[in-house]
Amino acid sequence: MGQRALIFGISLFAIGSAMAADPATINWTKIPAVKVPLFYPGQSSYEWLLTDAHSKTDKVKSGETCVSCHDKADADKLKPKSMGDKIVAGGPLEPMPVKGKNGYVDLNVQAAYDDKNAYLRYQWKTQQNHPGTEHQYLRFDGKEWKVYGYPQLDKVVQDGAQPGIYEDRMSIMIDDGKVPGFANQGCWLTCHEGQRDMPKLATKEEVAANPLLSAIKKGDVRKYLPATRHNPSDWATGKSVEEIAKLKADGAFVDLIQWRAHRSHAVGMADDGYVLEWRLADAGKDMFGGNADKATRQPKFMWDEKKVGYKSITVDQLRKGDHFLIREQNAVPFDPNAGWKEGDMIADYIVSREDAKGSAADNNAIASWKDGMWTVVMIRPLGLANDDDKALKPGGVYNVGFAVHDDNITTRGHFVSFSKTLGIGAKKGKVDINAVKLP
Ligand code: HEC
Repeated sequence: MGQRALIFGISLFAIGSAMAADPATINWTKIPAVKVPLFYPGQSSYEWLLTDAHSKTDKVKSGETCVSCHDKADADKLKPKSMGDKIVAGGPLEPMPVKGKNGYVDLNVQAAYDDKNAYLRYQWKTQQNHPGTEHQYLRFDGKEWKVYGYPQLDKVVQDGAQPGIYEDRMSIMIDDGKVPGFANQGCWLTCHEGQRDMPKLATKEEVAANPLLSAIKKGDVRKYLPATRHNPSDWATGKSVEEIAKLKADGAFVDLIQWRAHRSHAVGMADDGYVLEWRLADAGKDMFGGNADKATRQPKFMWDEKKVGYKSITVDQLRKGDHFLIREQNAVPFDPNAGWKEGDMIADYIVSREDAKGSAADNNAIASWKDGMWTVVMIRPLGLANDDDKALKPGGVYNVGFAVHDDNITTRGHFVSFSKTLGIGAKKGKVDINAVKLP
């Protein structure tokens, strides 16, 4: 598992950077490990925290940190584990519970750095006894290629009409102190009503009629920061594109790095994005893209039979291998006349390290899944100067939030942490996680 990516990572670092440690040989037993509790948040949005449903609205408004109440030794029911277990089972914050889903996960975090990079190592246990390296497919139904496999919060999965298939993920949001409120409220600043799988889901018509979202050509509402709206609790009240560009130039955005067990892990990378008026990808080109042709809805690529022994898979092959479709390694252009049969399946995303470009291609990762546990090392270059990145610097202290997507789920179905501090060899003050300088 992940062998391909591992080999790729090693060769990359051997060629790429003389000053950088080979991340595959870092002795992590010497680096302190911090246990970060992650819990299932359901629909506990920025707006929900300010309603009477969350009793301490005045304290949240005045900016008191979540952990000041939610991490006290004497208040068990307010601790992440109790909250997650309660919310995931269904109730006001979870209208469509996934049967048997865990409410909580312990995330082990270690951090190191050298002259070139920061190395963030994460470990967590998956609920299933296989890793979530597969993502949705295109399936031939005898006539057409249709998406097969959806996240578990979707009605089609809960009704049994589709299987739950969605990649695992490990994400970090990073603020360098320029985002008001992030230090206290963390990821909850970005999570709002109107978003996918959240209350008051914005309709296509509402989105199309919205000046900001039509200006930035988006078809739905995603994570945003309060400062990008005239009324932070109303996604529809977007500021002008010029005002938002000013916020970006002032650094008032959070970096969002997502390691994706299918769409970035396949090529030894993590993606690179940021949250401001939407959840945006950095400039350049991501390492993944859709494999369905927009006009014909047929796949653009299929597997190279000469290299992997098959052009497509069938449902009985699920969870038996990674089934990555990698443009430069095992893909060839789709042949519509290859005698396709009902039930043939091809990955719905094509992944490529070679095609990833610019600021979107900054982050590497090495990951493996063994005995029910993911180990992921994100490799982030220090001192990035792009206008959509937070530059990590030796001595710097950052506010971070972590998320894990486990067991075929997306949107509110992830586990999240309260805001933590990450130091890169920080000398002064106390930080939750401090990256250790490598010898
Ligand atoms: C001043 C104390 C205080 C602060 C600050 C606070 N909370 Fe709470 N929170 C509570 C209490 C008390 C409850 C449970 C009772 C209630 O909701 O009335 C609660 C409940 C919750 C629940 C629901 C748990 C359940 O059982 O359904 C979530 C989620 C939550 N808080 C998240 C947050 C987040 C996120 C923050 C920071 C942005 C935060 N809280 C800040 C006191 C606080």
